[in-house]
Amino acid sequence: MNIVFIGAGNMAEAIVAGIIKQGVVEAEKVCVTDIDEDRLAHFTEQYGVGRSSDNAAAAAQADVIVLSVKPQIFPEVWPDIKTALKPGALVVSIMAGIPSTRIAGGAAIRVVRVMPNTPALIGEGAAGIAAGEFADDSDIAVAQKLMAAVGAAVIVKEEELDAVTALSGSGPAYVFYLLESMLEAAEKMGLDSGVSRELALATVIGAAKLMKETGEAAADLRAKVTSKGGTTHAAINTMEARGVKESIVAALLAAQARSKELANG
Ligand SMILES: NC(=O)c1ccc[n+]([C@@H]2O[C@H](COP(=O)([O-])OP(=O)(O)OC[C@H]3O[C@@H](n4cnc5c(N)ncnc54)[C@H](OP(=O)(O)O)[C@@H]3O)[C@@H](O)[C@H]2O)c1
Repeated sequence: MNIVFIGAGNMAEAIVAGIIKQGVVEAEKVCVTDIDEDRLAHFTEQYGVGRSSDNAAAAAQADVIVLSVKPQIFPEVWPDIKTALKPGALVVSIMAGIPSTRIAGGAAIRVVRVMPNTPALIGEGAAGIAAGEFADDSDIAVAQKLMAAVGAAVIVKEEELDAVTALSGSGPAYVFYLLESMLEAAEKMGLDSGVSRELALATVIGAAKLMKETGEAAADLRAKVTSKGGTTHAAINTMEARGVKESIVAALLAAQARSKELANG
């Protein structure tokens, strides 16, 4: 299986690093393209993969084409690549908001869409993977194998990708926002910034791991640390009174709506 990444950006680097490190694909079977020669040189030096500045020529050699350019670049690069595709090639798109039907453009092209998130950069990502009209289970398996090299890789329906975008695609930003707020409070309480950063990060990571490892519901775990009249109770009461949960739910629904709008142009 020869794979080409169109666009040697941050997300492409995360996936290339993951699949090479984990032996999912050999470096000589991977090629990256970009307009920036320095990026291409970096990929060759760092990962030993092939390189090209000719998208169509590279795509013509590939069994799997990963579209990893920004969505706004897609209309510029796709026509040449599309005409160069090998018969039966699989197109995996990690571009946000471009429906598989737009990529296939009326042709019977096998397309799988992936919505990754930025913790993939350290191998801790969360990706939703969805088959387009002509993709089959083996195509989904290929995309899942690639994305599993950089984190959790979950199969969904394409119409669910807007919700996945709102949940895990944009999700890291919500966690950073929570951390920002916790650290602002820590500063107000006079804690040293290094100390509060270490404690806040360990708290978020520890809570997530606790939930993962116990398999318990978030609400149950929260109840366990919230004794009536205690400190956590005082904090949660304040959040409830100020509608924090409603705001977060509304925020995710707004992200989903925006994702739909962007997909519809
Ligand atoms: N859910 C998420 O959090 C998430 C996160 C990351 C990415 N994504 C998706 O992943 C995709 C890649 O994102 P990214 O952050 O990796 O972007 P990026 O770092 O900008 O990578 C895109 C690369 O494509 C290159 N490029 C531009 N024009 C090109 C052309 N004509 N031919 C070949 N390469 C070209 C860019 O070069 P220049 O920089 O020189 O223009 C850049 O190196 C996006 O479509 C995005 O929607 C989603």
